[in-house]
Amino acid sequence: MFDENGRIVGSNEQVEDLQTENTIRPKWFKDYIGQDKVKEKLSIFIESSLARNEPLDHVLLQGPPGLGKTTLSTIIANELGVNLKVTSGPAIERPGDLASILTNLKEGDVLFIDEIHRINRSVEEILYSAMEDYVLDIIVGKGPNAQSLRIDLARFTLVGATTRAGMLSAPLRDRFGVLLSLNLYTEDDLSSIVKRSARILDIEIDDEGALEIAKRSRGTPRIANRLLKRVRDFAIVKADKKIDLETSKKGLKLLEIDPRGLDNMDKKIIMVMYENFGGGPVGVDTIAASTGVENVTIEDVYEPYLLQIGFISRTPRGRVLTRKAYKHYGLKMEEDR
Ligand code: ADE
Repeated sequence: MFDENGRIVGSNEQVEDLQTENTIRPKWFKDYIGQDKVKEKLSIFIESSLARNEPLDHVLLQGPPGLGKTTLSTIIANELGVNLKVTSGPAIERPGDLASILTNLKEGDVLFIDEIHRINRSVEEILYSAMEDYVLDIIVGKGPNAQSLRIDLARFTLVGATTRAGMLSAPLRDRFGVLLSLNLYTEDDLSSIVKRSARILDIEIDDEGALEIAKRSRGTPRIANRLLKRVRDFAIVKADKKIDLETSKKGLKLLEIDPRGLDNMDKKIIMVMYENFGGGPVGVDTIAASTGVENVTIEDVYEPYLLQIGFISRTPRGRVLTRKAYKHYGLKMEEDR
């Protein structure tokens, strides 16, 4: 139920998510809620590729975890009517692993590489010619007997996903024809997602109950669906199997998620900034050292939402707490302390 950081509001994928996400996940654009710009662009590129009878250009999806990058890759493959092969940067350890994946692809297939920024350097170099010319250049043997071998590949589409586009090398980034950024979802969109998922899970929910879950989901469908399942449990045991505003609130209270979807870790980050650094400006590395959370995790997981709800802001000298954060936690502003 909890992710590596022990949070029910963590946006990293958890085992339980995988089981239910498969039934909840939309398979076609018509069922995919939100990210309208991304959907519009992708639909056009896909339709054009089908009309030209050529593979779709390579697509790079970037954005915080839990927003539907994997889901989109499934939809892309479905809409194109091709097979999808799913892997991730860290899973492809050696060039040979990638070679075997690539040589098994058929014309037009989609290869999805999650966390592509974590791909090994030696593997990445093989991707260049594969993406650009659909050929595999590999070296066979060692030393003076080494030979370079060129193998033709089927024309495929690479869909890469990353939480940090800035960590991609320029040669890799430049080989993607389509670059798309996913944004945190609005409460309205999340509310629609919660209602759709509730239908699939066969649990009754009203508008207010759904909106309350949406408000506490940190802009992230993966979190919204996870909270929905836990509130469903609460409703089944304590509330006649129906989720209304009161049931939502009680269930979420039990989960220790505050009205903005913030948990104890968010509070710790805010309190460290307040108590140790007078509200900032303070650098991410310093926040990381003081809270014991890795700075990558702060930047990828906590910060996007705290920035989105305007609790912290970024300045050239570091992060600062805003008036909203002070108000939410009942803290005194510097001049009143
Ligand atoms: N479940 C997860 N993400 C979704 C989305 N964007 N639309 C509909 N259902 C979803």
